[in-house]
Amino acid sequence: MTDSTAKLVYGGQELELSVREGSVGPQVIDIASLYGKTGAFTYDPGFTSTASCESKITYIDGDKGVLLHRGYPIEQLAEHGDFLEVCYLLLYGDLPTKTQKDDFDHRVTHHTMLHEQMSRFFTGFRRDAHPMAVMCGVVGALSAFYHDSTDISDPHQRMVASIRMIAKMPTIAAMAYKYHIGQPFVYPRNDLGYAADFLNMCFSVPCEEYNVNPVLARAMERIFILHADHEQNASTSTVRLAGSSGANPFACIAAGIACLWGPAHGGANEAALNMLAEIGSVDRIPEFIDRAKDKNDPFRLMGFGHRVYKNYDPRAKIMQKTTHEVLGELGIKDDPLLDVAMELEKIALTDEYFIEKKLYPNIDFYSGITLKALGFPTTMFTVLFALARTVGWIAQWKEMVEDPHQKIGRPRQLYTGATTRDYVPIAKR
Ligand code: SDX
Repeated sequence: MTDSTAKLVYGGQELELSVREGSVGPQVIDIASLYGKTGAFTYDPGFTSTASCESKITYIDGDKGVLLHRGYPIEQLAEHGDFLEVCYLLLYGDLPTKTQKDDFDHRVTHHTMLHEQMSRFFTGFRRDAHPMAVMCGVVGALSAFYHDSTDISDPHQRMVASIRMIAKMPTIAAMAYKYHIGQPFVYPRNDLGYAADFLNMCFSVPCEEYNVNPVLARAMERIFILHADHEQNASTSTVRLAGSSGANPFACIAAGIACLWGPAHGGANEAALNMLAEIGSVDRIPEFIDRAKDKNDPFRLMGFGHRVYKNYDPRAKIMQKTTHEVLGELGIKDDPLLDVAMELEKIALTDEYFIEKKLYPNIDFYSGITLKALGFPTTMFTVLFALARTVGWIAQWKEMVEDPHQKIGRPRQLYTGATTRDYVPIAKR
């Protein structure tokens, strides 16, 4: 990649900063030496213009609505791949051969069980605890049970921890769900595929035969693929920052789960479905559109807008198609929430405000309708997002740990607080 330079005139001096070219996408201006040369920081609180790292995993073009994982378009991966194949791609950088895929599937499948003692963790939570609170707690506790894969300097332990995380998240998510609804835990089964096993752990009960619907299992695989990784989003940046201090991978993933929970991020799928339910019918849409435009109203259309996509989120299109497939397979003809969603999307895409602000549906807009149709309560939606995103977090964490130039992340600030002043005894205040 060719490099060039940029000139910065500041404080009476002219600085030459190197400009680096990626394989595709915006160039970057390397400002690492800026503070040393000028005594000034750059200022970019939401990191809207900041590249925090170099990465080879995922590329997004927000204007063209492009999402590539190791160069493969998300549309092709969602169409042709299964989730563990995408996991292999994100972790190792290339699509697996048949032998590599069989070995990877075998390794993940044989790590799906959770240490039996961890099931007692769940009983410490109230039954009505939000499943994300349970997932945060249980994942953070994994490091207390799997000490043999917490030494991040050991490549073998890094890979074992990665496989364990990918393998155990469905089990933990299903146990959080079963605990939430007061049903007994269902153990993973090695004869089922990744998504089918997850659906079985969630929806089978000991008192009768349960056969996973292959169409729904395929849809679940595709939903996991769509959520697998997304460049340096808020939760991935959280995982990278936590990992930069040398924290163990389980603790870093727990930090990512906590960040994902926010309604501006992964919590939007739950918030979007709740919003559709609040709107309730097509004739109430204008009222909510007006609220979304009202500067004095904090209400936002959940499932709309994106920091990077200023065009359609390519995942939303595939998710919409999956929604129709799932509803069709389940014989759900007229879902009022879907009617509201389709009409809301149509109105928003022609409304001046949304066009000017480049607000399009994102992945969270349709996922909630699909997950509800599959039988999940809204409180489980972000748990499923975290389950799928774990492979992205782990792949990005591994890339960061294995970067020879990596150092602890330590941003600075623009300080606008009080300058030095002397302590005043309380009697004199
Ligand atoms: C995810 O980063 C990722 O990659 C995330 C993600 C991933 O896979 O990891 O893609 C997953 O988090 C998707 C986003 C899910 N969030 C939501 O659907 C919540 C609703 N969306 C908004 O909160 C918002 O759009 C964000 C947070 C997603 C993005 O916000 P930005 O880019 O910081 O934009 P902004 O908040 O500065 O908004 C720009 C303008 C503002 O108006 P002005 O101040 O310029 O007048 O657009 C308006 C906002 O008020 N706006 C909205 C809106 N989103 C932005 N107005 C109404 N409804 C909305 N949804």
